[in-house]
Amino acid sequence: MTEDATDGRAGERSRRLAGKVVLIAGAGSVAPGWGIGKATAVACARAGARIVAADIDIDAARETAALAEAEGAEAIAAAVDVASEESVAALAGAANARFGRVDVVHNNVGIGKVGGPLDIPVEDWDRIQRTNVTALAIAARAFLPGMRERRSGVFLTTSSVAALRYVGFPHMAYSVTKAAALHFTRMIAAQYAADGIRAVTIVPGLMDTPRIRQTVARAFPNLPFEELRTKRDRQVPLGTMGDGWDVAHAVVFLASDEARYVTGTELVIDGGLSLTMNGG
Ligand SMILES: NC(=O)c1ccc[n+]([C@@H]2O[C@H](COP(=O)([O-])OP(=O)(O)OC[C@H]3O[C@@H](n4cnc5c(N)ncnc54)[C@H](O)[C@@H]3O)[C@@H](O)[C@H]2O)c1
Repeated sequence: MTEDATDGRAGERSRRLAGKVVLIAGAGSVAPGWGIGKATAVACARAGARIVAADIDIDAARETAALAEAEGAEAIAAAVDVASEESVAALAGAANARFGRVDVVHNNVGIGKVGGPLDIPVEDWDRIQRTNVTALAIAARAFLPGMRERRSGVFLTTSSVAALRYVGFPHMAYSVTKAAALHFTRMIAAQYAADGIRAVTIVPGLMDTPRIRQTVARAFPNLPFEELRTKRDRQVPLGTMGDGWDVAHAVVFLASDEARYVTGTELVIDGGLSLTMNGG
């Protein structure tokens, strides 16, 4: 969480997304600071994209859209529940009404509940499955038809290293739904490649986002975040947790035409975490 809107870490404005309409679902942050979707919206705005910032929390979406506008981008904020077909259809309608199309969809919402199959009630499994996996089918149904018509589009989804490895504690519903996102993406990529549509999964490792700070504060009220941060930093071969910007810069590339030959695969952004046996 080291970059603010004026930080130079993003380098020169590349304008590599000039003219593209990028929709980010889960574009807010649950607390002050930079979540992945919020940083991604701002990074895409800096690269010249027009932004649809969508979130179940409209105030959070509005804050992100305002930050994108401050970068000189056109942006709208929209309320959406990605688990609702009706809500996502309304979002697609609003995006099309304002910008005429959506070139890039970034499915960035992810929810979870700590525990294994004996700990997580079936109702929670259903809710997590609906929000993390069924939502991808809902987004595909809302946005792929337009992309097919234009023979161009990018379908990005945020997964997690929890999809690849045991993370050191049972986080089963989250992990298996994030694993499903990997294969959902590959199947979209295979089926729609001939229509000019690319699909890629982004696989973050241990990222320092407001959500993580909030979750930790709730789960371990007596554990100062800095202590946990040191523990998490030590797990990572590159020596530190990542942040929302590490994902955001990768999304700018994957959304751009520079990635025109990249599809059906995943980009792991984890400082080497998943290379090691140190993940717990
Ligand atoms: N932070 C990490 O360490 C980490 C690591 C790996 C993967 N991820 C994944 O990255 C993504 C973003 O994580 P984050 O920590 O930046 O923020 P986050 O998980 O707090 O999510 C960002 C936004 O999603 C919104 N949201 C929640 N449910 C929604 C719904 N049903 N419809 C629409 N919006 C909804 C929230 O309001 C929030 O503003 C998630 O998919 C998460 O699983 C995060």
